[in-house]
Amino acid sequence: MKKERAAESAVALVKDGMVVGLGTGSTAELVISRLGERVKREGLDILGVPTSLRAEMIAIESGIRVTTLSEHPSLDICIDGADQVDSGLNLVKGGWGSHTREKIVARASKKFVVCVDDSKLVERLNRPVPVEVLPYAVRVVEAQVRELGGVPLLRKESNRGGYFITEGGNLIIDADFGVIEDPEELAVALSSIVGAIEHGIFTNASEVHVGGEGGVEVLRR
Ligand code: A5P
Repeated sequence: MKKERAAESAVALVKDGMVVGLGTGSTAELVISRLGERVKREGLDILGVPTSLRAEMIAIESGIRVTTLSEHPSLDICIDGADQVDSGLNLVKGGWGSHTREKIVARASKKFVVCVDDSKLVERLNRPVPVEVLPYAVRVVEAQVRELGGVPLLRKESNRGGYFITEGGNLIIDADFGVIEDPEELAVALSSIVGAIEHGIFTNASEVHVGGEGGVEVLRR
């Protein structure tokens, strides 16, 4: 599978003694289980900082020792997936609603490595941008998204029809801006929304490992 190839390529960067940020999502779960295999097979000595409860559970099941950002506020590497990657290596993340913690852990890491299959590559980002929102502020945030030219949609649980709640107890607005011409400019504008906690545009990927039919291509800034 393409994303397995990408995950394996990224996992090969991890070395003994590293503190590793563990992303969330189906590709990040492949990363975590491959890392666990290296821990068991090679005796790789690492600590993981999970970005969600789900990532934490899988890390523990895989045999990876987990730690916290309070104990390790500076990480060697963070490995995560993405929903979309543009030609400048800007990302849209947050399909699983974990982008706030993912952004914090990526920011705290010396190297932020992203792995995706080649279906996630686009010339310009065009997916709706997830914005985590304090429930108290939801209508006010929607209005600010509209002022920036976006169309806000409050995320629902896929199976039960209620609103999606993040691990922080907040809501997610998926803000559709169509084609995003300038991701850095939009990222700054979204960061200025009052009542929004964090948005899913990431502009700090160090490298992207792209799994394709023929192998893995590593894209760097
Ligand atoms: C989690 O909130 C997201 O940022 C994920 O990294 C993203 O949705 C990619 O998920 P998949 O690897 O499952 O496509």
